[in-house]
Amino acid sequence: TSQPLVDQFQRRITYLRLSVTDRCDLRCAYCMPERMTFLPKKDVLTLDEMHDLALGFIARGITKLRLTGGEPLVRRDMIDLVRALGRRIGAADGQGGLEELTLTTNGTRLAEFADDLRAAGVRRINVSLDTLDREAFARLTRRDSLPQVLEGLAAAKASGLKVKLNTVALKGINEHEIADIVAWAHGQGFEATLIEVMPLGEVEEDRFDHYLPLVAVQEDLARRWTLAPSGHRTGGPARYWDVAETGGRLGLITPLTNNFCEGCNRIRVTATGQLYACLGGNEQVDLRAALRSDDPQGALSAALDTAMRIKPERHHFAIDGRGEAPALARHMSMTGG
Ligand code: GTP
Ligand code: 5AD
Ligand code: SF4
Repeated sequence: TSQPLVDQFQRRITYLRLSVTDRCDLRCAYCMPERMTFLPKKDVLTLDEMHDLALGFIARGITKLRLTGGEPLVRRDMIDLVRALGRRIGAADGQGGLEELTLTTNGTRLAEFADDLRAAGVRRINVSLDTLDREAFARLTRRDSLPQVLEGLAAAKASGLKVKLNTVALKGINEHEIADIVAWAHGQGFEATLIEVMPLGEVEEDRFDHYLPLVAVQEDLARRWTLAPSGHRTGGPARYWDVAETGGRLGLITPLTNNFCEGCNRIRVTATGQLYACLGGNEQVDLRAALRSDDPQGALSAALDTAMRIKPERHHFAIDGRGEAPALARHMSMTGG
């Protein structure tokens, strides 16, 4: 059962994105509705189950583990899970080791947890931040939390964590501010990544109204700065550019305008233990049932083999029509991206 995970298209799966909760303390308008329905707590895996699950993946060759949400740091005692998984970093006892343990957070609770994360073995985190304007932030996320996020970022920096900002490019919302956000991030010693908005789950507004293709943004940035393709790789979906004038790195995540599925190395698991083979598809395997069976690790390993058989070649996202239903009913906060 220690066979590596390889799908039908010969893609080696080494990167697990594990959502520890679908809950969040913000309500980004493109991500979820104001009155979001969350999963019943009784359906959510315990932290012990998540730990066992992660070990099962690590035994099958997962070397990069990212904890996501919702917002991972709103889950109580989350740091215990991070500490336990941190012990697998660089482990060489024949049961599989992690090269990287990391998380994606909105930053609101980083001031409290940055030091603990670093002490647990986390070296790098991704922080979602779409605007540096307090009022625009409050409008977009429906919570006035920009000061906490900035405090959290400062704490992360002080604790020695490397930080990458994730900014969803949104027409009419942060379009005019994108260069400033990138310059600010680079000035702080952070990387910056821009993301195209994806049609996942119903929200109040039509995402098409705010969709900004990154090819256009990149052209605009290239008029201002010298962008050179970077050889940098993280195993994530971004393609990177070095910005000569700021001395920083810029990532572009373009699921819509430039599909990156060919090199996909990822799968994701929801807080209830559903494995989704693709962010842009409905192919799923129930790992909770496996975990709660008589032979959890055997059943888990078999479920992972099933996942490899059903992982689709690519997603079929398209934002090509005003008023169209989203491609998938599920919100990003279910799978953590
Ligand atoms: P790095 O390790 O820094 O490369 O991080 P990452 O880009 O893998 O993770 P992060 O959580 O920062 O994700 C950034 C964005 O990429 C989010 O909007 C994710 O939803 C999106 N993303 C991650 N994996 C996939 C994928 O397989 N397909 C698509 N379409 N989007 C993805
Ligand atoms: N499309 C693109 N990105 C999204 N995120 C949340 N919902 C969407 C969406 N529909 C982003 C968050 C965070 C990352 C994990 O996913 O802003 O940066
Ligand atoms: Fe929360 Fe992230 Fe969704 Fe914003 S994008 S509401 S921070 S889960």
